[in-house]
Amino acid sequence: MTTQTPSTQDVQKSPHVTADDYARLYAASVNDPDTFWAEHGQRIDWIKPFTKVKNTSFTPGNIDIRWFEDGALNVSANCIDRHLAERGNQTAIIWEPDDPTKEDAQHITYADLHRSVSKMANVLKDLGVARGDRVIIYLPMIPEAAYAMLACTRIGAIHSIVFAGFSPDALGARINGCDAKVVITADYAPRGGRETPLKSNTDTALLHCKEGLKCLVVKRTGGQTTWTDRDYDCNALMAEASDDCPPQEMNAEDPLFILYTSGSTGQPKGVVHTTGGYLVYAAMTHEIVFDYHEGDVFWCTADVGWVTGHSYIVYGPLANGATTIMFEGVPTFPDAGRFWEVCAKHKVNQFYTAPTAIRALMGAGKEWVEKHDLSDLRVLGSVGEPINPEAWNWYNEVVGKGNCPIVDTFWQTETGGHMLTPLPGATKLKPGAAQQPFFGVHPVVLEPTSGEVVEGNGVEGVLCIADSWPGQMRTVWGDHERFEKTYFGDYKGYYFSGDGCRRDEDGDYWITGRVDDVINVSGHRMGTAEVESALVAHAKVAESAVVGYPHDVKGQGIYAYVTLMNGEEPSDALRKELEVWVRTEIGPIAKPDLIQWAPGLPKTRSGKIMRRILRKIAEDDFGALGDTSTLADPSVVDDLIANRMNRA
Ligand code: PRX
Repeated sequence: MTTQTPSTQDVQKSPHVTADDYARLYAASVNDPDTFWAEHGQRIDWIKPFTKVKNTSFTPGNIDIRWFEDGALNVSANCIDRHLAERGNQTAIIWEPDDPTKEDAQHITYADLHRSVSKMANVLKDLGVARGDRVIIYLPMIPEAAYAMLACTRIGAIHSIVFAGFSPDALGARINGCDAKVVITADYAPRGGRETPLKSNTDTALLHCKEGLKCLVVKRTGGQTTWTDRDYDCNALMAEASDDCPPQEMNAEDPLFILYTSGSTGQPKGVVHTTGGYLVYAAMTHEIVFDYHEGDVFWCTADVGWVTGHSYIVYGPLANGATTIMFEGVPTFPDAGRFWEVCAKHKVNQFYTAPTAIRALMGAGKEWVEKHDLSDLRVLGSVGEPINPEAWNWYNEVVGKGNCPIVDTFWQTETGGHMLTPLPGATKLKPGAAQQPFFGVHPVVLEPTSGEVVEGNGVEGVLCIADSWPGQMRTVWGDHERFEKTYFGDYKGYYFSGDGCRRDEDGDYWITGRVDDVINVSGHRMGTAEVESALVAHAKVAESAVVGYPHDVKGQGIYAYVTLMNGEEPSDALRKELEVWVRTEIGPIAKPDLIQWAPGLPKTRSGKIMRRILRKIAEDDFGALGDTSTLADPSVVDDLIANRMNRA
């Protein structure tokens, strides 16, 4: 189905890119990437100009990605210093607190940002952080999170943000994974009226980390915390610190940040992005995809713990000299009008959120939207999962009043920025489609089994990318082999996204969801293997298999099949215990929605769990189980069907 909406040309005053521009520029970008990116590389300031543009190889055994490799720059100078002369007094960040009845929004100018970032950079230096060192950031959505990111970039340290909803165990694994020197945290993280004890979580995590780590603690609520020799008071140190910290000259290919993300196997991997290509790509996509114009107020509702927050709260908008909103709260607190109240209050021009939030707010009713003046909105964005047509239409009609193009942006932690997306003013929109590649992105559809390229339109397969783009991840931290195997192992010569897709009769792309064991819960990416390994770590659990199932609000829910140890009895109390256990092992986002007691799991004779069958049962689609004759014990399937969980 390709429902058409009015062309967005009509509603965009002077878009950066028209349909004609798109066709011409896209062709130029893939036919001659060197020339195209040499020009667009100029959108940021270089301390030492690059002379080489693209030097990339997708050849098996030699995956090597370099962009602008002999150039030198500093990211914080690009996001702050270069704007000072023209817009030092312009607001860089509007901070919106969790609870608007208790605190006011803060407006942080570019000059303020320069001062705070320089101070925090000096504090980090005093703690012994040097170029190339890793710093973990485990903070609420407060301005200090942006200061911390930019302070790292100022001195050439590599940051790795851990979402504040992750548990001490998950935090500890990431601290150890990148051998961090310092953890920046806060006393508490308020969110939706509740508080997460970040400092105490950090203390617990550090029990399993090497000696000598330092902990820089920001005061958020002023609530009580314990204090040890390794703790440093960030507010006190910043008050004393000098606000003069010259930006460090960095090579374009020096790592900028590591961000851990889930895969289909094993523990989360540290996705590495580097300095030059990432910044060019984040800045360019931010400007073009959201049709950002000078003076606009841009709001991405994500958390900086995810890549969306990196690219479209901090780096992209600030590199473009925008005013960007940092939102500490949740869409439904204090009430379901919060998003729209913030949009009206700050006259937001571009609003970017996830389908799960739209679905939740759609359920709350349109009266929450209609109370607020949203007349400044020009572009709406969606990210994180496929958006269903009902949610798309509601977003379009109720929020956008039919006047705001919706950019359904498909991308990943690994891609650094948007890959497939409509462009405001250039694309005739189709609800639910990510539509067309961004400049420089060369998508191909492959036949999943043979790996053959599927040509033409009206086709389906797995989504791969045939050539590199500047925002591409460069490696997995400390494990280049895993990088090669994960992304280039299945389809030689191509980057494999892990997603299925359809190219319709018009050549537009539709993402059909992950084809691996990664699930997408409320737009949060989760490896089923991670939840399984948390479950089997419980003393009463013998085995577990986790799959996704369709969930009205979350997109996908977590369905866990659990086989108990001999002698253990299923009970509601144990179910609760396992839920709490997973929350503690990983974090609240990984809590199973449904746990089914499974006396046995469907396995092949060689012992491999047949997940296809488990997915079908979880989806309530067991009429289509396919061939079960190769199972070691086909009778387990009947038991699983008979005892499947009620999804209502
Ligand atoms: O399955 C795709 C889905 O989210 C995955 C990437 O997750 P993550 O690395 O956490 O990054 C999320 C934010 C960039 C993809 O493999 N996904 C993301 N955006 C879309 C999407 N699926 C459909 N439509 C989208 N717009």
